[in-house]
Amino acid sequence: MQHPKFISFEGIDGSGKTTQAKRLAKTLQHLGFSVHLLREPGNTPVSEHIRSLLLDRSTYHLTPKTELLLFSASRSQLVDTVIQPLLERGDVVICDRFTDSSIAYQAFGRKLPLEMVQLCNRIATNDLQPILTFYLRIPLEIAQQRMQQTRNTQDRFEASKTEFYQRVIEGYEFLVQTEPDRVFAIDATQPVDQIAAEIWTILQQRLPWLAQHSTSS
Ligand code: TYD
Repeated sequence: MQHPKFISFEGIDGSGKTTQAKRLAKTLQHLGFSVHLLREPGNTPVSEHIRSLLLDRSTYHLTPKTELLLFSASRSQLVDTVIQPLLERGDVVICDRFTDSSIAYQAFGRKLPLEMVQLCNRIATNDLQPILTFYLRIPLEIAQQRMQQTRNTQDRFEASKTEFYQRVIEGYEFLVQTEPDRVFAIDATQPVDQIAAEIWTILQQRLPWLAQHSTSS
């Protein structure tokens, strides 16, 4: 695939990435693109089953490696049966979380070896990567306040400790540092419209297919 129209959104829980992913999907749809908004883990029957296993409070005993393999299994099914065929058709795929979540959560958060997580990512995706990734950067205290306001129940991840999330943030910062051409950090404390505008500017600068479309329409 030469120019896969594949964009992902990343960030800690409460960063507002889902709002931005939805918004971008709408904007691109209005421009006439065929857009698919997906979330990880999920979007295939088997991935939804795995999602409930992973997010269920009763599965607290999952080991980090089992957790990694479950996320990877879910991702593998999603890539092979949904994402790759859509991208081959030339459609736009926007993913709310993708492989970077495993780097941030499983490698940094759960302290699994980075190489192990990278290898699982490569197996699960056949080396497919988003062309652009937006990391919604937010201080942990603000994200936690937002989560407390919007959710009554805590799932397995949200009940985890502050130190865990600090490590997840470190993981995302590592990705911003090591893959500056793909992973863009956006200040997620800004108003929603401003965040969307910043994302749009980066997209227009970085994606030839979008720039071409904007000038021809
Ligand atoms: P979800 O309810 O979808 O949270 P959010 O709205 O923040 O995306 O739960 C997904 C959780 O799974 C989230 O805490 C991050 C975690 N996760 C991983 O640990 N590794 C992964 O590879 C993925 C995709 C998610």
